[in-house]
Amino acid sequence: MTKDAPPTVFVIDFGAQYAQLIARRVRECHVYSEIVPYSVDVDTLARRQPAGIILSGGPASVYEPGAPACDERILGLGVPVLGICYGQQLMAQALGGEVGHTEAGEYGKTDVTIVDRGLLLDGLPERSTAWMSHRDAVTKPPPGFVVTASTMNCPVAAMEDPDDGFFGVQFHPEVAHTPRGMDVMRNFLYRACGITPTWTPLGIVDQAVEQIRAQVGREQVVCALSGGVDSAVAALLVHKAVSDQLTCIFVDHGLLREGEPEQVVDAFRQHFRVELIHVDAAERFLARLADVEDPEEKRKIIGGEFIRIFEEVAKGLGNVRYLVQGTLYPDVIESGGERSPGVRGSSSADALRSPGQKGPASTIKTHHNVGGLPDVMAFELVEPLRNLFKDEVRKVGEELGLPPEIVWRQPFPGPGLAVRIVGEVTSERLDIVRRADAIVRDELRRAGLEREIWQAFAVLPAVRSVGVQGDERTYAYPIVVRAVTSEDAMTADWARLPHDVLERISNRITSEVAGVNRVVYDVTSKPPGTIEWE
Ligand code: XMP
Repeated sequence: MTKDAPPTVFVIDFGAQYAQLIARRVRECHVYSEIVPYSVDVDTLARRQPAGIILSGGPASVYEPGAPACDERILGLGVPVLGICYGQQLMAQALGGEVGHTEAGEYGKTDVTIVDRGLLLDGLPERSTAWMSHRDAVTKPPPGFVVTASTMNCPVAAMEDPDDGFFGVQFHPEVAHTPRGMDVMRNFLYRACGITPTWTPLGIVDQAVEQIRAQVGREQVVCALSGGVDSAVAALLVHKAVSDQLTCIFVDHGLLREGEPEQVVDAFRQHFRVELIHVDAAERFLARLADVEDPEEKRKIIGGEFIRIFEEVAKGLGNVRYLVQGTLYPDVIESGGERSPGVRGSSSADALRSPGQKGPASTIKTHHNVGGLPDVMAFELVEPLRNLFKDEVRKVGEELGLPPEIVWRQPFPGPGLAVRIVGEVTSERLDIVRRADAIVRDELRRAGLEREIWQAFAVLPAVRSVGVQGDERTYAYPIVVRAVTSEDAMTADWARLPHDVLERISNRITSEVAGVNRVVYDVTSKPPGTIEWE
């Protein structure tokens, strides 16, 4: 941490689906927050001087043997604590209250009535709606606590002991289904903890620049640009910090979307005047992909070739010590903060875990990220986005003046259009899928749907069907349109696109893209489908 680290609220994670969401909400209130596992060591936590602590929800029952619990001394640090759901129950149990199984649990939107406004619920109406998901509840608050809200089946929907800095809610203030939830968060952060909200995009940039300078000194840095927002923002932060000590390498594998290579080169070279090496390797990748149909084989070839080219170019630069990577905070949480051997670097999240210990969140992507991973190379990592969520990365990108096409770019797989072409990747098939993809995205943009759709794109399957175009029988490819909504790509739902948008997409693709005579819409969620077709 730097000497003027921002006031930090720690979210202690008891296995909640919502821990990340809580941390994001805190940050939306412009207060920095980090997630730590419930097994966090109390002294380590105290050394970080928390400005507030939030105990998350969790699926267990506090009275069951082996239920996750944190060190109770955390409640004695003199730091304000907010317990949410399981967190409230744990707090009640630890401080001398009682927790029991309720007759009828509450799931979903529930009416909450304020019985004593107190500090936490100040400003909320007498009756409001909150999101509940519980069977257990506090049956008797600890001594010194006042019950501030209740529901039909839950007498202690909220409680507090403001003098000692303890607050609890049975409902989930962090979810969108609790309309006044952010008021509760703000009351806790600003009034109970007394934090001044300073975690703004400008503040993030300043802090990142300071940290990068401290880490890099006068050494040379290299960055692989992928065309996506993460590597672009990471590179710009490093450039702001150490300007021409940074060289960006843009390995253009020829599998990007229409207009992307030009946008990257234009933004970086022309606009930001970043030292940029643009390697046009389209031919090389196409040659390596000839006759390859198996999806995993394609991914391996592209990943391997990418690293080889990147290595060749980086070696040619001579004395480079650091490699920039656009690792995000959710990746750090999901991988339990662990690193591959041989890669040095540390973060505050790592520092709070004992070696080998993982956080309770255990979903790990198996994707090989083409934009990253040259960890066989002898670089040390600079990871300026390691503490940021995706929405914060976008805000920082805007703050740095990155064009909206890059800031708001939808996620795109490292192996690019190759995994959206079922079967062999040829330059003709690439042209078809690239053209169709541009139409899909263009129509969504025109309909103003681009930002609410997680990803929308075209897939070219390896089948053909009969059609009739201009009185002629055709035998040509279909295009599959895939559009999904999602929070984090772990699960996704097919997007209910308006029929007129689908109609325009279909008409344009069949009339503008040679070799296509049919358009179909993929109505599969994830699971059972994946977002990409390969
Ligand atoms: P799936 O298809 O598994 O994709 O549902 C989940 C998310 O990951 C993206 N994706 C990738 N991202 N390198 C990446 O950086 C890859 O190889 C890769 N493959 C899939 C996909 O676009 C979706 O957002």
